[in-house]
Amino acid sequence: VAFVSSKSAKYKLKTPLFILAPMDDVTDTVFRRVVSDCAAPDLAITEFVNVDGLNSAGKQALMPKLSLKLDKTPVIAQLWGKNPDNFFKATKEVIKLGFSGVDINFGCPDKTIVKNGCCSAYILPENRAVAVEIIKSVQKAADGKLPVSVKTRLGFNEVDFSWHELLLKQKLDMLIIHGRTKKEMSKVPADWQKIAEIRRLRDRISPKTLIIGNGDVVDRAHGQQLIDKHGLDGVMIGRGVLTNPFAFSEEADGIWDQMKKQAKLQLFARHVDMFEQTWQKGERRFETLKKFAKLYVNGFDGASSLRGEIMTKKSAAELIDFLKSSPD
Ligand SMILES: Cc1cc2nc3c(=O)[nH]c(=O)nc-3n(C[C@H](O)[C@H](O)[C@H](O)COP(=O)(O)O)c2cc1C
Repeated sequence: VAFVSSKSAKYKLKTPLFILAPMDDVTDTVFRRVVSDCAAPDLAITEFVNVDGLNSAGKQALMPKLSLKLDKTPVIAQLWGKNPDNFFKATKEVIKLGFSGVDINFGCPDKTIVKNGCCSAYILPENRAVAVEIIKSVQKAADGKLPVSVKTRLGFNEVDFSWHELLLKQKLDMLIIHGRTKKEMSKVPADWQKIAEIRRLRDRISPKTLIIGNGDVVDRAHGQQLIDKHGLDGVMIGRGVLTNPFAFSEEADGIWDQMKKQAKLQLFARHVDMFEQTWQKGERRFETLKKFAKLYVNGFDGASSLRGEIMTKKSAAELIDFLKSSPD
């Protein structure tokens, strides 16, 4: 099965798809490269990028989120915002930049964003007319050249399949479902039975739309089980790569668990080095790298105190020196 209808086939991918989730301040072009060098996903998605910001004086500050500098696998740009015309313009820009698709964020539960009527707020009935307008704007701009997808949740306060019915009527190329409501944030386990329910709706309403499940998938093998059980076209993995950068590996799990301290620190040093090379003008703050200590500096004796020391480092060079000189 091709990812996109032949009309818009810029590239074709076979399902099932294993997709790296968008994570703001985490999955930039550098970390996407780290993950794909460990074990590549079929597709990745950028951090969410605000279309209204892209059409303002603040545009330059957002452009690093749309960098493809180090990417080797196809990347979809994720957009969020308010104004359908700005979604149109942003989609045109994304096509020029060389992305492999456009995804619309109708799922983020952030309080301020929702208050402003964006992201998961579009699930609310009173905002759905604008949601449809946004989809139509993006589809018009994509003009069959790029696949258009939506990433959303099960509902706002309650599970609400009328939302997914409406989305499926828009003939999206792909619908990504995070198996929780907005209200649930990330506090309860993702409900894959409900994701399967949406897949059945898809069979009836829009058979060509791919359904991707998301929420708590730890690695490829786990994802494959969920795909088989629920008849899905793929899964998306987010936090799984923050405990195992080899989460997309086809081999049985355990690569990362068995890796020794020095190999883990070396991978961290490589990440920091690529970060430094890529963001030479300070486009991204060095401090954002520190959250990765939990990933790389873990699962060996003395990891916790080493992480404590890492928190005191003030620059990429200092951190790399430290990582490279740490004794066995
Ligand atoms: C730090 C962080 C940042 C995130 N940023 C985004 C984002 O920019 N866009 C988006 O659609 N989802 C975002 N998410 C949600 C994830 O893409 C994903 O839906 C969620 O983490 C559940 O999947 P998981 O259990 O595999 O992590 C973010 C999640 C985390 C943990």
